[in-house]
Amino acid sequence: MKILVTGGLGYIGSHTVVALQNDGYEVIIIDNLSNSNIKVLHQIKKITGILPDFEKIDLRDKEAVSLFFKQYKIDGVIHFAGSKAVGESVEKPLLYYENNLTTLITVLKEMQKNKVSHFIFSSSCTVYGQADKLPITENAPIKPAESPYGATKKMGEIIIKDTTKASTIKAIALRYFNPIGAHKSALIGELPLGVPQNLIPFVVQTAAGIQKTLSIFGNDYPTPDGTAIRDYIHVVDLAKAHIAALKRLITNKNKTNCEFFNIGTGKGSSVLEVVKAFEKATGKKVNFKIVDRRAGDITTAYADTSLANKELGWKAELNLEDALKSAWAWQLKQ
Ligand code: UD1
Repeated sequence: MKILVTGGLGYIGSHTVVALQNDGYEVIIIDNLSNSNIKVLHQIKKITGILPDFEKIDLRDKEAVSLFFKQYKIDGVIHFAGSKAVGESVEKPLLYYENNLTTLITVLKEMQKNKVSHFIFSSSCTVYGQADKLPITENAPIKPAESPYGATKKMGEIIIKDTTKASTIKAIALRYFNPIGAHKSALIGELPLGVPQNLIPFVVQTAAGIQKTLSIFGNDYPTPDGTAIRDYIHVVDLAKAHIAALKRLITNKNKTNCEFFNIGTGKGSSVLEVVKAFEKATGKKVNFKIVDRRAGDITTAYADTSLANKELGWKAELNLEDALKSAWAWQLKQ
């Protein structure tokens, strides 16, 4: 089967391409290289022995996308392409709505036109905001978005759900918790542009001496050590969840035409616990200071993964230590 992976040279996309190829799928990647590097294509080949097909297309270019769908016979789409920096989305909302929503509509329209029916979407636990109950189940209420980025995930889910009601497209939206880590080969990983915004890239760059001091955003949260709690999921486990979701659609195991699954480990770790775990796993010291809370941050989020465990037959296999070690190995190769 031939699977289109949009944004397939990005962080989660590249790990998913590896997982797809390891599972025998043929992959074609569309990427505009706006936040990725063409070298990743060759790194994927080093890992799997197969060079995936690649088209440099910007999904905002409707004609190019239309031509692509005419040219290739595709059996399914895993859609990663989009922008993901929360802060940037506040500064440039229209860019985010265009990059994340008009492109989604373009892809869905072409799928409909060309009778491609399997669609997997990168959603986020950001749709739950600060959930009232923990762990967070898929039935938790969807909260008002804290940023345009968050709004694109929420609206993206609505667009997909409505489309599946009125077409032959069947979709699964995976709500990722916090993806971290890198492939064990250290050939692919996260490549943050400029100063990292997310915790693990900042921790790793501080340990490497690229950043001087990690700022921990707040130690006055109502948590045991006062720092915020997240569910950090190894990107290799996350990649495998996409294969499980795709298989569910291909084998008609889906219960409705648009399903939502939490993808996390089910375990919450505080920022201080992550820093300590990193120091223990790598033997490297991380200088840190406590600063004010970051606007828009929630206190605690971790997943109830029982639905994904049961329905997708998927479960996170790697732990925080594995993920932090792999993130460090990746940093050492940079
Ligand atoms: C963020 C986004 C989320 C997105 C995800 C993608 C926000 C509010 N949420 O999640 O929508 O899906 O990235 O990966 O931005 N921290 C520090 N110091 C740092 C960086 C982070 O203390 O330098 C803390 C944060 O306050 C937070 C935790 O580390 O408590 C995790 O932060 P981060 O990695 O940025 O992820 P989220 O904010 O959970």
